[in-house]
Amino acid sequence: MTDRYCVFGNPVAHSRSPAIHARFAAQCHQDLSYEALLAPLDGFSATAREFVAAGGKGANVTLPFKEEAFGLCTRRSARAERAGAVNTLDFTGSGIFGDNTDGAGLVRDIEVNLGFPLAGKRLLLLGAGGAARGVIAPILERQLAGLFIANRNGDKADALAGQFSDLATVDAGNFAKTAGRTFDVVINATSASLSGAALPLPAGIFAPGSLAYDMMYGKGETPFLALAREQGAAHLADGLGMLVEQAAEAFLVWRGVRPDGAPVLAALREQLAA
Ligand code: ATR
Repeated sequence: MTDRYCVFGNPVAHSRSPAIHARFAAQCHQDLSYEALLAPLDGFSATAREFVAAGGKGANVTLPFKEEAFGLCTRRSARAERAGAVNTLDFTGSGIFGDNTDGAGLVRDIEVNLGFPLAGKRLLLLGAGGAARGVIAPILERQLAGLFIANRNGDKADALAGQFSDLATVDAGNFAKTAGRTFDVVINATSASLSGAALPLPAGIFAPGSLAYDMMYGKGETPFLALAREQGAAHLADGLGMLVEQAAEAFLVWRGVRPDGAPVLAALREQLAA
């Protein structure tokens, strides 16, 4: 029997996850199917339960259901608890297990695919919404020199930093508060590029040799990466690698084997450029 997996989202038709997991399954010789399932905006939980009842083994969850998926779980990983959101569900044990692989995917993309170790680096995280919160704990595990969370609404950044104060001292504030500092890694976790808005970053925040990383991706350079290039960031990366690596980490949760993300990322990159 082929094991069934899916990704729930709304919208979900353009999700690249089915193509990614099909490549992982072939690479790891795993007999599984993976489809994109549209859940109604007011019907995520019911749709997920139907999938479980029909024999589904696991699922990914994307926008806008990650917080609702958190509530659906009977057990969660520590990193999902920290994130307050779940992107990976496993139905094979008792109850529903929830995990969050976004932060691990981000860290792996930066350290392994991009070859940029985070230990000892000064990191600036832009944004204080769900996308930012989801990656903070895995980032803090990397022995950074320091983390600053900057957000348009500085109070939200302060509140978010406070939620991680037991793990590390995290600086926070609005974008203007980063003026006069420099960072080795700047990660964009805002949704500003969805509206084409430019972020009001102070000049001079990119240290020599720094990496600008946008959790968003698309055809061509994102607005944040264009700005980072202008401001002197030495290395630029979009979030396609994070997408692949969070999927590889979910595959590991479900199947006990970690696929190699690099060839899958290369294939996706080619498709995106075509
Ligand atoms: P997500 O789950 O994608 O993080 P969210 O929780 O709605 O979505 O958070 C969106 C983030 O993008 C927030 O940090 C938001 O800043 P505010 O908290 O100040 O609203 C940020 N954001 C969205 N549009 C922005 C813009 N035009 N300029 C700067 N920040 C923006």
